Amino acid sequence: MKFPVRLRRLRRTPSIRGLFAETTVATRHLVQPYFVVSGKGVRQETRPGLGLWQVSPDVLREEVAMLAKGGAGGVMLFGVPDFKRDDGQQLVGQLAPLEAAIGESKSVAPELPIFADVCLCAYTTHGHCGLVKGHEIVNDESVRVLCEMAGLFAKWGVDFVCPSDMMDGRIGAIRQALDEGGHTNTSILSYAIKMASAFYGPFREAAHSAPSFGDRRSYQMPAHNRREARRELLLDVEEGADALLVKPAMTNLDLIRDAREATDLPLFAYQVSGEYAMMRAAGDAGLIDFERALEESLVSIRRAGADVIVSYAAREWCKRA
Ligand code: PBG
Repeated sequence: MKFPVRLRRLRRTPSIRGLFAETTVATRHLVQPYFVVSGKGVRQETRPGLGLWQVSPDVLREEVAMLAKGGAGGVMLFGVPDFKRDDGQQLVGQLAPLEAAIGESKSVAPELPIFADVCLCAYTTHGHCGLVKGHEIVNDESVRVLCEMAGLFAKWGVDFVCPSDMMDGRIGAIRQALDEGGHTNTSILSYAIKMASAFYGPFREAAHSAPSFGDRRSYQMPAHNRREARRELLLDVEEGADALLVKPAMTNLDLIRDAREATDLPLFAYQVSGEYAMMRAAGDAGLIDFERALEESLVSIRRAGADVIVSYAAREWCKRA
């Protein structure tokens, strides 16, 4: 038979396929999240295999050394405070484990980028991402507290503050607060497109941050809206974001592509706890090959246009490296 083109010729061997792989996933593209608790010697995965690690600052130090050696892109730190407050007061005390963790990380691997989550859900008894009056999540008062939190992280030396709260106007306000505090070198990674998603379940268990009433739909985005996602994105660019993030990743690959084409800023995607857990559970049930599914998912996210992926798999990839 005569066929003018045979695409299979270029798929014949692993080395030919390797030669022409258009998309790469390297450890430098991956950022590992951690949930920082107080104390010493704490290294606890909230559920076996899910990659949600609660660590004390001294253990984070060991993890960071390993990640830096493996060439990781960075660590994303979430605080699990010793006490909760609903008035936005005593932030310094609430963030004490993070202050220590940032110090440990910077002293063992000064060049490994640290990303710090800026949000109130883990710090309040109601578990909402902003301050609450009655049953309303109030915007502007919340932004004030978020600015203060970002300022503290900047002071303690993080490279990126990462507002994930989805209040209006917070990127511009945080930029202004950072600049006024002399932190002109601290970058803002904005959670620009963050959906109200069912895929955050396992995270909330690790961060103790599930809302005690209602849900997050009055501030996180509806999955239905592509145009609105673009508005969120462009607004954060205008307000001064240095980099943008889309999450969850797997259910928003089209929006990652949109974001890639709409701006020239570095783009992050967050492979969230539920995405990772889903693949792990299916793997454990013998339904899919977890390792292959994981790699395929990371490749897809990079192919969609993400520069960097925040993933619970980063640690394992670095250990292999
Ligand atoms: C905090 C925050 C959440 C996640 C990242 N930052 C949870 C939420 O919005 O409830 C989810 C990440 C994950 O599921 O891995 N607002």
